[in-house]
Amino acid sequence: MQSYDVVIIGAGAAGMMCALEASKRGRSVLILDHAAMPGEKIRISGGGRCNFTNIHASPKNFLSANPHFCISALSRYTQRDFIALVERHRIAYHEKTLGQLFCDGSARQIIDMLVSEMQGRGAELVLSTEVKDVRKTSEGFVLTLSTGTVACQSLVVACGGKSIPKMGATGFGYELAERFGLAIVETRPALVPLTFDAKTLERLAPLAGNAVDAEVACGKARFSEAMLFTHRGVSGPSILQISSYWREGDEIRITMLPGVDVADLIRAAKRGNGRQAVQTVLANHLPKRLAQSIAERTGIDGNLADLSDAQIKTVDAAVNDWRIKPAGSEGYRTAEVTLGGVDTSGLDQKTMQAKSVPGLFFIGEAVDVTGWLGGYNFQWAWSSGWVAGQAA
Ligand code: FDA
Repeated sequence: MQSYDVVIIGAGAAGMMCALEASKRGRSVLILDHAAMPGEKIRISGGGRCNFTNIHASPKNFLSANPHFCISALSRYTQRDFIALVERHRIAYHEKTLGQLFCDGSARQIIDMLVSEMQGRGAELVLSTEVKDVRKTSEGFVLTLSTGTVACQSLVVACGGKSIPKMGATGFGYELAERFGLAIVETRPALVPLTFDAKTLERLAPLAGNAVDAEVACGKARFSEAMLFTHRGVSGPSILQISSYWREGDEIRITMLPGVDVADLIRAAKRGNGRQAVQTVLANHLPKRLAQSIAERTGIDGNLADLSDAQIKTVDAAVNDWRIKPAGSEGYRTAEVTLGGVDTSGLDQKTMQAKSVPGLFFIGEAVDVTGWLGGYNFQWAWSSGWVAGQAA
């Protein structure tokens, strides 16, 4: 039976970072994946350009039952450290918006960088390999693979979350955690489009394809980014962001013209030309179809000259305080990440090692640390992978 210092399950973002760091320390490392290629989620991320980190990443951009847990890893391996690695590999990048860094070329450059770094330091990458069983022994762990058996001192679980099952996401990491007695914080799809019920869709379906720069709020969380009407409901960055905070039964509040006093706008238009319809005024600031739909929703379609102040306020609220209860989300099929995961109370924040099982580590998306949209989830994968790589 072949024996390694470290075996890593999952050759994704976190696993590859961990492999290269553990190899740097002279540890013998095997990193295995059931997929045929490493880093498949990196490849499709950021529309093929990989939003690999965020200049502004800080613990406040992450959701977790213990919001303090991520502080240590994020401060030991920061976005600046990852940017330095990208620059050493001469990968050109740019800031798209809100501190989000993307490759100028292709996400494959990030995969190639990680593969060449880890293999250059001796880590062994084995693909298309299933893990059938994991057993704890007095010296470490024994893994039964589809191709044979391997032993290791340290086992790092970097299997990611449940999102996009079509790409091989399995939730295997959670199973392993439970098998070793670790608790799981309930998992749910996050960074995911929200859906409407059939009746609402009947009214809003014609808006599919229209987008606005909106502020979307749910409870105390609020995000100002683009929002897109879809055939199923709403999507776009502001909706994906709020989906991590939304729960079934919650309403979301949408401000479609943030910073604009719509009542003032209508009053001014009324003074200028009282014979126009409200949707004409709104169409100067919103997509025409949306303006039309708002007029229909409020039932206010006469000349501005005939509008009462109460009606003007109704239109204002319809634009800037639209409250709607999504029926659900598109689920793991399209979710970018999985909220929840291995309960951080069972892990050491400095190493990601399970407190109750020496030698067992959990990193990346499998752990109950979920970032906002915008490069934060990869930063968590790099940071948690890096700290585990120093200890495994
Ligand atoms: P990741 O999912 O990367 O890797 C897990 C690996 O484990 C996979 O290679 C998988 O095949 C393997 N595996 C799973 N089960 C296994 C088993 N039983 N046996 C063996 N191997 C197994 N984030 C961001 O910051 N910026 C972005 O631009 C994007 N864009 C984006 C787009 C899309 C479409 C999605 C779905 C997601 C994103 N993300 C993102 C999120 C980001 O991809 C995600 O947070 C990280 O990939 C998580 O890294 P991990 O290494 O933890 O898991």
